[in-house]
Amino acid sequence: MKKILVATEKPFAKAAIDEIRPIVEAAGYELALLEKYTEKAQLLDAVKDAQALIVRSDKVTREVVEAASELKIVVRAGAGFDNLDLEACTEKGIVAMNTPGQNSNAVGELVLGMMVFMARNGFNGSAGTELRGKKLGIHAYGNVGQYVAEIAKGFGMELYAFDPFVAKETIEAAGITPVETVEELYKTCHYISLHIPANAQTKQSINYALLSSMPQGAALVNTARKEVIHEEEILKVMADRPDFKYLSDIAPDCKAEFEANFEGRFFFTPKKMGAQTAEANINAGAAAARQIIGFLENGDETFKVNK
Ligand code: 3PG
Repeated sequence: MKKILVATEKPFAKAAIDEIRPIVEAAGYELALLEKYTEKAQLLDAVKDAQALIVRSDKVTREVVEAASELKIVVRAGAGFDNLDLEACTEKGIVAMNTPGQNSNAVGELVLGMMVFMARNGFNGSAGTELRGKKLGIHAYGNVGQYVAEIAKGFGMELYAFDPFVAKETIEAAGITPVETVEELYKTCHYISLHIPANAQTKQSINYALLSSMPQGAALVNTARKEVIHEEEILKVMADRPDFKYLSDIAPDCKAEFEANFEGRFFFTPKKMGAQTAEANINAGAAAARQIIGFLENGDETFKVNK
């Protein structure tokens, strides 16, 4: 029987597997699970006879692709696909997809949750600040950025967005002020919420010049990827600006420096938590399963991300 493998170092909620299984089995495929694996060798072994693969942030490297001799399709159940070696997939004729939008609300809720947590000094009993009336800059107005904006409106925040790939009118229609340059966004906003992908253009692009231009009481919220931050330079901003705070969904490589020098001014999740809700797991996992069946049975290539 043809096998669809779910390989997740950070597993889906059980409810998501309960949703994925009937989709897979109704189409006549076998569902195989490799959860909480700790060694690359386990993944290399599990992919050997799989026709399809569902992953989260799991690294699908060239080595994995080469070990998967039966593989026709890999779906990243989520938005960012920087964990897939697209070139290796293309060379082997493997279709790579993501499931855009499926976990966006979960990430949006985490953004505002972390902002409230930090504005109230980690709920330590001291007087904090409020979000109402503060300026929030959405750096990239994609699926997650849109959810962040909707939720932030409920908090009474003043919204700005920068996204060169989205029409100004679309941003305006959502009650958000579009800005022309990334510099203007950072100069204007107390809070910046990052929603850019990690790629050759964006890696280390969030630098000293941008961050140090933010108004007093500034905070950067990163639920995108740690790689987009210039770590040496954010450390310099933290040192120069005692008012500056950094909140990130997963710790930067320089976490030890934050812990040693900037107590109370940062918060890092221990594991990537943005999409860690039952609802997001169900949405993204089931979408991945449906996309796989749609491709294997009908050649549907919607959401393909490689050439
Ligand atoms: C995404 O790109 O969809 C998020 O970063 C979620 O990643 P995860 O599935 O590893 O939690």
